[in-house]
Amino acid sequence: MYTSMIQTIAVVASLAAYSVDATATRRSTKKLTQGTTWTLEAWGYEDTSNGYMIDIDLQTKSKDYVKSLVDGGQYVVCYFSAGTAEDWRPDYLDMMEYASKDSRYPGEYWMDITQWEDFKHLIKARMEEAVEKGCHGIEPDNTDAYEYGSDAVPGETKDSLKPYQIDYMRWMANTAHELGLEIAQKNTVDLIPDLIDVMDYAINESCAKFSKNAYCSNYEAFVKQDKAVFGVEYNTNGDCSDAQSEGIMRKYKNSNGSQWMDCKISTN
Ligand SMILES: *[C@@H]1O[C@H](CO)[C@@H](O)[C@H](O)[C@H]1NC(C)=O
Ligand SMILES: *[C@@H]1O[C@H](CO)[C@@H](O)[C@H](O)[C@H]1NC(C)=O
Repeated sequence: MYTSMIQTIAVVASLAAYSVDATATRRSTKKLTQGTTWTLEAWGYEDTSNGYMIDIDLQTKSKDYVKSLVDGGQYVVCYFSAGTAEDWRPDYLDMMEYASKDSRYPGEYWMDITQWEDFKHLIKARMEEAVEKGCHGIEPDNTDAYEYGSDAVPGETKDSLKPYQIDYMRWMANTAHELGLEIAQKNTVDLIPDLIDVMDYAINESCAKFSKNAYCSNYEAFVKQDKAVFGVEYNTNGDCSDAQSEGIMRKYKNSNGSQWMDCKISTN
């Protein structure tokens, strides 16, 4: 009895080790913790800082490019829009079948997130592309559709959309992990309590600008768990002391149009 239990445990343990192994190659790399420096090459930006994490566009960057970054020792986050269909993407027509209405930007349409289970295969295909290209993590953007209520999905409200948004994002996080990818929680600060257990790091735009007291306190939950929080502020000439006290690796795009100003955080 005792022996067979040990054997059973050994079998279960080796199965577990095997399934973890299958995904361990990417996820075993250094975690993105507090103090991680970064470079933003996604969202149409150029950023020449030489950060440890580099955020790039999944669909426009090649496998060779990702390989060169990985070989250079960087941690690669691959960006895609999970909440809009964009008319310059190769899978645009497939995405449009589940789109609800035009979004904030030209050529971009909100996905009807009430149908996320019907289009999740398209999102999973993008995650598989990230795996195939060698990305360590993903940054699914435009996951804030629910905040726009009927402006994103006609006939819905922020409250009616919120549960769909949470389920969709939890599915993305779990699927990413199954594929060996880590995942960023992009914006969607209201959902931090619902998602932080499955999110590996956070990326926010304009929290110093928009949060009422210019203090991005919602992100404390990530900071406390030593999960990196990356922030960008636009058209402001910032000061790094706020970012440092908040624990946010923040970049300021200066209003004079000069290069990014990078706020670094020392972890010693
Ligand atoms: C970033 O975070 C702040 C709160 O800390 C929030 O007000 C703001 O809306 C977030 N940015 C976006 C684009 O959602
Ligand atoms: C732009 O602003 C930043 C921050 O205030 C400053 O460090 C930099 O020298 C400025 N660049 C130019 C070209 O004025």
